Amino acid sequence: MDERIISSDLKEEDIFEKSIRPDNLDEYVGQNEIKENLRVFIQAAKMRNEPLDHVLLYGPPGLGKTTLAHIIANELGTTLRTASGPSIEKSGDLAAILSNLEPGDVLFIDEIHRMPSYIEEILYPAMEDFEIDLVIGGNEGRSKSVKINLPPFTLVGATTRAGDLSSPLRDRFGIIAKLEYYTFEELKDIVIRSGRVFDINVTDDAAMELAKRSRKTPRVANRLFRRVRDFALVLGSGEIDLDITKQALKRLHVDDSGLDNLDREYLTSLIEKFNGGPVGVETIATSIGEEVTTVEDVIEPYLLQEGFIKRTRSGRIATEKAYRSLGIVYNIGFFKED
Ligand SMILES: Nc1ncnc2c1ncn2[C@@H]1O[C@H](COP(=O)(O)OP(=O)(O)OP(=O)(O)O)[C@@H](O)[C@H]1O
Ligand SMILES: [Mg+2]
Repeated sequence: MDERIISSDLKEEDIFEKSIRPDNLDEYVGQNEIKENLRVFIQAAKMRNEPLDHVLLYGPPGLGKTTLAHIIANELGTTLRTASGPSIEKSGDLAAILSNLEPGDVLFIDEIHRMPSYIEEILYPAMEDFEIDLVIGGNEGRSKSVKINLPPFTLVGATTRAGDLSSPLRDRFGIIAKLEYYTFEELKDIVIRSGRVFDINVTDDAAMELAKRSRKTPRVANRLFRRVRDFALVLGSGEIDLDITKQALKRLHVDDSGLDNLDREYLTSLIEKFNGGPVGVETIATSIGEEVTTVEDVIEPYLLQEGFIKRTRSGRIATEKAYRSLGIVYNIGFFKED
């Protein structure tokens, strides 16, 4: 989902992903309420020997939705089957996925908000009664509908946009969890854990520095960790200390508030081209050459949460904090009068 992944090192990223991803609830840092509730629901489902109720995970990119889906299957002791909303194009595709499930399996549908509505409707009876209605034939109006029973399963849906889900679909999830941005302490733990996994020492102050500059997002923390590890290997002592971390972050253009190039481009455009707003999201997206969905799902949630921008009816507005972060004088009177 996150467009900012530097694609030239996809392979490295994939290998890294696999080794770094926590595979049980104890190792999953933060999101304490979600974690403790899931622990109870999973244990109860196991005690009753029933599948876990369907789970919807939502929140900005990189906060750990996919990771949590894997963990849920692991903790249940079942298999995770994965599909993605946009890749299910025909009703037969979903019917095939569903009828191949084993009892108790977890079906993970990523980007579930991007599933076409005619596909969504197949899910309703599947989620509620573990059955689907398949229409077969179709010649000269002689098609008929047959019911297929499915094994009991758990659907885990993930989305960055819960608001785009239809209410009939949303209502069929018994467990709905909103993932929050992480605290610095939590991100620090994630960085130290990554150091352990890759057998490289990260000093406390270096881990905290990385944590503070990670957009409160584990994926960003791990990405910065990976790059700083390179600098430590080639230019430093082999350990990740504060000095090499600061050098690396400077060279990666990550500033003190953790904003990256894309964030700064967005804010610069909002302030310099549109006098700080209000301006519509489509206009900003065009001016920085990004898709509206990238702007809305990847860039804006963090800027909103941290108070760099405000969303108003007439469009986005840059706050004083945004001006300060770019070193531009905030003079609202001057801008608003002309
Ligand atoms: N709570 C956590 N503890 C430790 N590591 C985490 C945690 N959450 C996420 N990570 C790490 O952050 C990275 C991104 O997580 P993940 O892929 O699960 O995010 P996501 O929410 O599915 O993002 P997207 O919306 O882009 O699909 C992974 O490498 C994962 O190992
Ligand atoms: Mg994901």
